[in-house]
Amino acid sequence: KLPYAEPYRIKMIEEIHQSTKEQRIQLLKNAHFNLFNLRSSHVYIDLLTDSGTGAMSDNQWSALMSGDESYAGSRSFEALHETVKNLTGFPYLLPTHQGRAAENILFSVLVKEGNVVPGNSHFDTTKGHIEMRKAHAIDCTIDKAFNVDDLHPFKGNIDLAKLENVYLNHPKEEIPFCLITITCNSSGGQPVSLENIKAVKKLSDQYGIPVYFDAARFAENAYFIKTREAGQENKTIKEIAKEVFSYGDGMTMSSKKDGLVNIGGFIALNNEKVFQEASNFTIIFEGFITYGGMAGRDMAALAVGLNEATEFDYLESRISQVEYLGKKLIEYGVPIQKPIGGHAIFIDALKFLPHLKREEFPAQTLGLELFKEAGIRAVEIGTLLADRDPETRENRYPKLELLRLAIPRRTYTNNHMDYIAAALRNVFDRRNDIKTGYKITWEPAILRHFTVKLAEV
Ligand code: F0G
Repeated sequence: KLPYAEPYRIKMIEEIHQSTKEQRIQLLKNAHFNLFNLRSSHVYIDLLTDSGTGAMSDNQWSALMSGDESYAGSRSFEALHETVKNLTGFPYLLPTHQGRAAENILFSVLVKEGNVVPGNSHFDTTKGHIEMRKAHAIDCTIDKAFNVDDLHPFKGNIDLAKLENVYLNHPKEEIPFCLITITCNSSGGQPVSLENIKAVKKLSDQYGIPVYFDAARFAENAYFIKTREAGQENKTIKEIAKEVFSYGDGMTMSSKKDGLVNIGGFIALNNEKVFQEASNFTIIFEGFITYGGMAGRDMAALAVGLNEATEFDYLESRISQVEYLGKKLIEYGVPIQKPIGGHAIFIDALKFLPHLKREEFPAQTLGLELFKEAGIRAVEIGTLLADRDPETRENRYPKLELLRLAIPRRTYTNNHMDYIAAALRNVFDRRNDIKTGYKITWEPAILRHFTVKLAEV
């Protein structure tokens, strides 16, 4: 068998620049030790996020040129609507400017004060939109997800007993829906199995609770179903995705991930009444219902991107690159979340820096060391991200303290992966010299990790 290689070649490049260690130390001080405050021109390899950072194809750029900018009823909306209907089966579509805007609109319709929204490790903006409405997100992810060495192939799965407990302990009126995030970003880019999705649907039907998807990485989730779940190997990605969505009432989408575009999102729905109410909020918050905050050209590029993202060859090359980096790190002894997930490598900072106190933010400390070492920007998925409890205002210590290396789609080569792995090996070799972490000098009320200011302890 021949080795696999990317199913595309490079037509355009963007220069990136290396800096010196001395420069990087100063840059971090100027940034109050918050990697979000760095200029991208000071970053050599940017693994902050896989969101909106991918490379579009020539076909997408062509679609961009033919976008229809009509305020109402544009051809580009029609193209997107057709694509979304074909991929998901949901008849109603509302474009939004990105995923969190889709959350804002859908939750404006469905989530009320005092509600509970069970799901598998809700993403931070999702949780933010729930908590902003004085409702609660209840994490029902299987316990195995929180053991980084457990090789369960679907660590994004929902624990049915935990979910049923929520259904038993709250009246139906308090539970607007169950939210399945595919793949589950917060627990490590881990997939949810088709079997689990079916079971969640069945249980939720018994209690009369709708099921919605946060589908930002639905194509990567479908790839894992095809490659890891017995009986699914002969289905296409598109067939799997459609079956997945058939078990839900609707979805929110951040198109910046598996839409393969730089900006955009949408809501797709089965229920006409929810669609009508959501349409009102779309008009107020985003724009008319046939563009919802997106340019016609961006909808046109998204329609193409959704089809490309659900091609097996693309997904194989994408996920194999993440795996390539992960395997190198495992070889070097760096503790990472296993099995390797879809869009990112998650380093276990509590194992990497076990001597650091939890309140000194070990994952953030590791991220800062990695930038110092090699100009690589990763992101903390740990205590900073977990925010404070809205009632007690105490730090919430999540079960895992992770540093995420998110890999943009179709953007970096495996040489970059080698460089990242070598940099992490260097930091790993000197881990015992990293004796202290960081403390907060300023923070906002919610979503603090974006703007928090830190100082060395
Ligand atoms: N849901 C999930 C699972 C996400 O990962 C994100 C964004 C969103 C919703 C919100 O979408 O950014 O388009 O408003 N995740 C990015 C990340 C920011 O880096 O993981 P958005």
